[in-house]
Amino acid sequence: MLSAYPDLDAANLPAHVAIIMDGNGRWAKKRLLNRIKGHEQGTEAVRSIVRTCRELGISILTLYAFSTENWQRPKTEVAALMNLLKRFLESELEEMMNKDIRLNAIGEIERLPEDVRQMLQKTMKSTENNNSMLLNLALSYGGRAEIVRMVREISKKAKNGEIDPDSITSSIVSDHLYTRGMQDPDLLIRTSGEIRISNFLLWQVAYSEIFVTDTLWPDFGKDEFVRILKGYQQRERRFGKVEA
Ligand code: IPE
Ligand code: IPE
Ligand code: MG
Repeated sequence: MLSAYPDLDAANLPAHVAIIMDGNGRWAKKRLLNRIKGHEQGTEAVRSIVRTCRELGISILTLYAFSTENWQRPKTEVAALMNLLKRFLESELEEMMNKDIRLNAIGEIERLPEDVRQMLQKTMKSTENNNSMLLNLALSYGGRAEIVRMVREISKKAKNGEIDPDSITSSIVSDHLYTRGMQDPDLLIRTSGEIRISNFLLWQVAYSEIFVTDTLWPDFGKDEFVRILKGYQQRERRFGKVEA
């Protein structure tokens, strides 16, 4: 199955990979270009990593594309990112259909501009029966906002008697997050050397294996991804228990 990847053990690949795609601005700055050029180049890295994940048979790829805090960037940068997102969805639909990839968005989708939201809804609808891989885009996503939303939803249910507060479990909590029904990320990658979570999937990364690379997101490609997967396969995941 993985003949193209002889170094990897097909039986021990992460089912869910999450990526904090960081460093587009620095990539552009290094080349004396506008930050927006960095975001454009970052889109190419997205295409390549989506393809590689699909080839490897990874079930879920979650990409942090825009955080709740990113709204505070200059208006022109936010507008350019929204425009890029819309163009990405338009240009990738055919490939997502051909490769049986379902697109989903997590985050405060209602905050996105109307035209982007419509494109997103259209893409999610068109790809809803695709089953070979789930591409999850975190858009206007913040882990704390997600937790606040979950608390509100569960509280409402408790108030109207649908849920008994004493029987709330972590699986009930998980069921009220945007990632409902998805297993937690096995592997979390952050590019551009920053060693922080930046409000990404706070609940879900409890036991994810974390890899930080200095590579800036637009330079992140298949070879490095495969090296990280090899590294992942060498880690011993204990989940708090002792070695078997
Ligand atoms: C990541 O790159 C993309 C987004 C956050 C939208 P940055 O834009 O954060 O790039 P740096 O961190 O400034 O280099
Ligand atoms: C995290 O990157 C958000 C995304 C990749 C979308 P940021 O560049 O926004 O995070 P900080 O500011 O370095 O923490
Ligand atoms: Mg950044």
